[in-house]
Amino acid sequence: MANRRPLLAGNWKMHKTIQEARDFAVGFQEKVQDVTDLDMVICAPFTALSVLKEELEESIIHIGAQNMYYQPKGAFTGEISPLMLLDLACTYVIIGHSERREYFKEDDELIARKVKAALDMSLTPILCVGENLALREGGKALGFVRGQVEKDLMELTPSELQKVVIAYEPIWAIGTGKTASARDAQEMCSAIRSTLAGIAGSVAQEIRILYGGSVKSGNIAELMVQPDIDGALVGGASLEVEEFAQLIQNAR
Ligand code: 13P
Repeated sequence: MANRRPLLAGNWKMHKTIQEARDFAVGFQEKVQDVTDLDMVICAPFTALSVLKEELEESIIHIGAQNMYYQPKGAFTGEISPLMLLDLACTYVIIGHSERREYFKEDDELIARKVKAALDMSLTPILCVGENLALREGGKALGFVRGQVEKDLMELTPSELQKVVIAYEPIWAIGTGKTASARDAQEMCSAIRSTLAGIAGSVAQEIRILYGGSVKSGNIAELMVQPDIDGALVGGASLEVEEFAQLIQNAR
């Protein structure tokens, strides 16, 4: 099996003022400074990125955004471009989170363009996929998620695909305290990897696949030991220094 470096990503969503972000960055950095065996990234609101750049640019903690538009500049009121994210020392960007798909009507065509634009600017996209409860209960989860992966990544070359991170986040497990069982999460991540193999052959073994949905310090270990789970995308549990630092330690 390929040697995939684990990735633990925090998604702050619409949380934290500039001061709160600074306090977190200072405290968190201190707690995880010895962590060299995995990658860490904090995906903050746009307004907090500049303070994270000040506090974290020279550290081992990567900075990420939660969304971007696919054009480099232009008349797109309210949008943020990949170039602007580079300016803020971002190296990662979440694309196609289920909250963007649901509340902001992002479809697979738009998401595919965003993934490609991120790669073109050397940003690592964290592409989110995942089914809702009705699809899960109807036995349609695997087919649905495989379809998302294909639609969102089909246009990429194998060498581009290798740089993508995929986050499997079942919608019914987000913010609900209901995690997918480690077995179900592994089953889906393995199905995602076989879908990737269909697109890009052996490169699929090098692509990092994360699980997300009510991940906490108490359940990260059982997820990390699954063969196709290479890390986690963490919402609520990434907001507190103590909890996120503990989660990182328990993931090792
Ligand atoms: P929670 O960890 O709060 O369930 O959120 C998961 C998520 O959506 C991360 O992107």
